[in-house]
This record gives sequence, structure tokens and C-alpha cells, in this order.
Amino acid sequence: MASKESSVTALQDSVDLAFEGKNIRLPVVRGTEDEVAVDIAKLRDTTGLITLDNGYGNTGSCQSAITFIDGDKGILRYRGYDIAELAEKSNYLEVAWLLIHGELPTAAQAAELRNSVTRHTMLHEDFRRFFDALPKQAHPMPVCAAAISTLSTFYGEKETEAEIQDGIVRLLAKMPTIAACAYKHSIGQPFMYPRNDLDYCSNFLRMMFATPCEDYVADPVVARALDLLLILHADHEQNCSTSTVRLVGSSKAPLFACIAAGITALWGPLHGGANQQVIEMLDDIAREGGNVEKFVARAKDKTSGARLMGFGHRVYKNYDPRASILKKSCTEVLRKVGGGKGETARLLDIAMRLEDVALHDEYFISHKLYPNVDFYSGVIYKALEIPSNMFTVMFAMGRLSGWIAQWREMRRDPTFRIGRPRQVYTGPALRAYVPLSKRG
Ligand code: ACO
Repeated sequence: MASKESSVTALQDSVDLAFEGKNIRLPVVRGTEDEVAVDIAKLRDTTGLITLDNGYGNTGSCQSAITFIDGDKGILRYRGYDIAELAEKSNYLEVAWLLIHGELPTAAQAAELRNSVTRHTMLHEDFRRFFDALPKQAHPMPVCAAAISTLSTFYGEKETEAEIQDGIVRLLAKMPTIAACAYKHSIGQPFMYPRNDLDYCSNFLRMMFATPCEDYVADPVVARALDLLLILHADHEQNCSTSTVRLVGSSKAPLFACIAAGITALWGPLHGGANQQVIEMLDDIAREGGNVEKFVARAKDKTSGARLMGFGHRVYKNYDPRASILKKSCTEVLRKVGGGKGETARLLDIAMRLEDVALHDEYFISHKLYPNVDFYSGVIYKALEIPSNMFTVMFAMGRLSGWIAQWREMRRDPTFRIGRPRQVYTGPALRAYVPLSKRG
């Protein structure tokens, strides 16, 4: 119930709640884009009530100045900058700086970041033994999570500002090397050392695709497409993996361990793992003769257990702005890298037809299900010849900067507390212990 003086929406600054004779006035918190939240910090102390919010769809876990999303209008901004403008004009390392530090870097700061990231890309040689210990068929996501977590065994865990800055640079620098090593390990090829004369994405592509017998020179179109994907994935406010990073970080676990937890959360098919599933779904449709309508019908049938991967989003109920940017980029990339023919073109054609059928289907319209960022990213990765088990790793490489920014914001917040949700217990009430001899 809204308080009397707050019944005029523009002035509403509190909400009154009455429960079993106890009254509480809950303050309303307003964000810079006028989004509103009821601050329930005193709710339990005053009324004994807690809130129950399955999947946290109505719960704000923090106040944050990093990313703004308006899911109804399809808006995504990093530190106030529109995602489309950043995608067009910026580059990944600059966006990483923006997310972490709050402002675009000056020319000197950008040069310093590029330089320090470039000079920290090598892994400790002992990492070879780490990779050697893992099975070849391991999915690169848990390999990356384990490798990032292992960084805390190589570097200091003190939380001085200097150590934190070093940790941030090491993460940004070593993540592409770790990702490429995870891939090389899985196909049994020798690891390629990073090269300091290459930019961030060209260096990664070379570590993925060169061998000691044959060098690889990244096509600038491919490197730019990858950079764009990293920008689009860089942050997305309090999603599953970011909330995981914050929750783990709230125990004051070291940065590397928190990022490893984020990678693990991202792996799931309902989150970052969806991009791999999208391409597998498109492959399935292609194998079954390209019958898109049949697949849409299956996705609508709840008993089938199938979903249209790459469709739907917890916050975007109109369109995902990242998907719009990628759809445009997808056709351009395919044209430029020669993927306009053959298997990739066939998958893109199926993706376009799938999107068209779904967007005109009553079920998808009424459920507000639109293509999300993962829908087109898989097709682009395929055109760039990134293997499908590496798609989610690409996502993690991009999201890394957002995780770092969110972790840092949380740790610097003066109101910082360990995250500790409550629950409504539904198990048995108190009962007496039954000795083994008396149990059925
Ligand atoms: N295909 C078919 N039906 C769907 C789909 C889909 N992709 N997504 C949601 N629905 C239906 C559900 O069955 C449900 O229907 P009902 O209300 O009739 O029972 C309704 O839409 C709401 O679905 P929820 O799962 O409750 O929505 P939620 O917000 O919890 O889930 C999610 C969002 C996980 C993204 C979901 O849409 C989904 O599973 N999509 C496919 C996986 C995917 O693409 N994930 C990537 C997300 S983007 C990212 O993480 C970067």
C-alpha cells in the first residue's frame, strides 16, 4: 500500500506496509534513470517478514553505477554510453577501462593499459603441468575456470590497491592466453606463445590458429568482429554470473577465485552456454532437412522439453539491442570473410528463417520472446572458424571486464556486507532421532 503523502507518483518516496498489527514505512530508492526500488533493509527486524522472490526477478541486490538496462525499451548503456555507439566507435580494452574506472581512458591511459596488458599475456611455465593434468576431452569452460582460479596460487592475494591493479591487468592479459591454451590442449596441438606486436584480438586468434609449423596472420575483419563481440558481452548488470562474482566476492575471496566462479556460472545453457546450443540447434535443424516450422512447434510444446535456444531474456521483453547490432554485423562479416557460401551461410539462412517464423508466431509474441545476443553470436563465431565448444569461452573473455568492474564496485562500497539470503523453510518440523534398529 502506498503511503498517503506518496500517492502522487512523482513525489512517492516511501511505501507503507502493515502486517499482523505491525506497521513499517519503507523508503523508496530512485536511480538516475528513475527506476524505483523499495528498500526493505528494516523489514525483517520490524515485522518478522522476509521477501520470497524465486529467481530474483523483483530483487535489486545492489546499487550500481556501471550498466543501465531498460528491458522494455531495449536500452543497454555502459557508464551512460549507448552500446551501439561503443560498438561502432570503441574497442574492447577501452570499454574494459570504462567499465572498471567509470570514464573513457585518456590517450595516455589507453596506451598504458594496452602496454601493460600486452606485457602480461604470458603464463608461468608451470602452467604447462596444470594443462597436462587435464583430460583432452575436457570442455574448455571448466578448464578456463580452473586455470583462472589457479592464478591465485601464483600471485599475491593481498588486497592492496597496487595488487588489485596488477590482478586486473593479469586477468585481462592472461584470459585470452588461457582460453587459447585450453583449446590447443583439447586438440593436442602445442601451445603458442603470445606476441607483443599484435593487438588484443589478433594475438588471441594467432594463439588459437597458428602452429609452430605455420604462422597465422589474423584478418583485420575477423579481429574487429571478435573485438565487437567482446564489447557487446562486456557487462550486463546483475545477471547470473555477475551476481555469482559479487556473492563469492562478498566473502572477501580473492579476485581470481571470484572470476573463476563467474566463468562456472556462465557455462550453463540458460546463460552463456546458450551460444553453443544455438549453433547445435541450427545444425540439428539443417540435418533434419531445414524444417524450421517443425522446430518452432517443438519449442512451443512444453512436453518436448525443447526451447528455442537464443530466444527469450529475463530483462529484454521487446528486443535485445546486442542482437540487433550482431544481426547487422553477421551479414557483413559473412560477406567479408567469405562465409557467404557453404555451411555457415546455410546456418545463417536457417537462423534468419527461424527468427522470422518465431517473430510472427502467437506463442513467441505473447510470451515476448525475441532473439537474444546468443542467437547471432554463434553464427558469427562459426564464420570466424571458432570451434563451437569455445563459444562460451569467447563470451567469458568479454564478460571478464564487467565482472572485474562489478567486483571492484562492490568491494569499494562503504555499505558492503557479506551476501547472505534468507529462506522459507519447508522441511519437517522438529522430530526425535530414530535409532538404526527401529528404522523400517
Ligand atoms: N523457447 C520456448 N519457450 C520459452 C523460451 C524459449 N527460448 N524462453 C522462455 N519460454 C517460455 C517458457 O516456457 C515460459 O512459458 P509459460 O509462461 O507458458 O510457462 C515463459 O516463456 C517464461 O519463461 P521463463 O523460463 O520463466 O523465463 P525466464 O525469464 O526465467 O528465462 C531465459 C529467461 C532463461 C533466457 C529463457 O528465455 C530461456 O531458457 N531461453 C533459451 C536459452 C537462452 O537463449 N539463454 C540465453 C539468455 S541470454 C544470456 O544469458 C546472455
